Amino acid sequence: MNSATKLPGKTRKLGGASVGIPPRQLNFRLPDEPPRYPVANNATATTFIAVLSGFFPPGERFFMESVRHFRDQISDPHLKAQVSGFMGQEAIHGREHERLNAMLIGQGIDVRIPERAVSIALKVLERFPARQQLAFTTFMEHFTALVGEQFLTDEHFQSQGDQKMLQLWLWHAMEELEHKSVAFDVYEAIGNRRRERLLAFPMVTLVMLPALFGSWMYLLAKEGKLLDRRDLAKGFGLMVGPRGLIGRIIPKMGLFARKDFHPNKKDTSALEAQWRERLFGENGTLRDQVGNLDSFTQ
Ligand SMILES: [Fe+2]
Ligand SMILES: [Fe+2]
Repeated sequence: MNSATKLPGKTRKLGGASVGIPPRQLNFRLPDEPPRYPVANNATATTFIAVLSGFFPPGERFFMESVRHFRDQISDPHLKAQVSGFMGQEAIHGREHERLNAMLIGQGIDVRIPERAVSIALKVLERFPARQQLAFTTFMEHFTALVGEQFLTDEHFQSQGDQKMLQLWLWHAMEELEHKSVAFDVYEAIGNRRRERLLAFPMVTLVMLPALFGSWMYLLAKEGKLLDRRDLAKGFGLMVGPRGLIGRIIPKMGLFARKDFHPNKKDTSALEAQWRERLFGENGTLRDQVGNLDSFTQ
């Protein structure tokens, strides 16, 4: 038994930090008077991002549960510590997105709708065997890693957002890259079956797309922007157009189906290091908003 998983909470968190996946206790300073549409001053793009934020708390709980189910079967101490880090990071992501979501609800953007929609979608996925659920998670983590990488490299998209709010997303994106291989390595440890991965791709897409588009259109309709062609054109372009944040990663989704797929085949360590410095380094933009800086900086 690895000591990092047996000792109380504080040591468990250091387990993740020791393998480069520190659960940073971020307490993000939300603005008192947030802009109405923080993404590009545009309702279509802002509601899309709000849908993603609504998806995260239930989605990340699903990821954690699917990994937790096999946690005791892992014997490699390194992977055990990585799992600790993964659990810690996803739990804090969920918590911070819940705080953001409460703020959005206060602004009239009712993210309880995407939260409910994704919960229904996840209920469908929860009906599958535990192994298959973990395969679903590896596919969704492939998606979040691709979005994270795109987010951290897409200076045009970054320039469109409210610079303060942006920091929360940059932190989440960076940590998605830091832990991108963990669920997959647990899946490898219990015996990677390509058949399950091949089912994950269409199955997750089938349940998630209606939840995503349905709640996105609902929020847009509530904003009275469903027929605003200028807002729609700009927002669709930014999000799902061929040069949009999500549009650009769609061609890479298929990598997951490859026989020899592994998240680490795309090395993002330099990008992660760059953003670790920009967010939490000496002059890091989030350095003063994190409670356990000493546990992951030297
Ligand atoms: Fe996350
Ligand atoms: Fe993740």
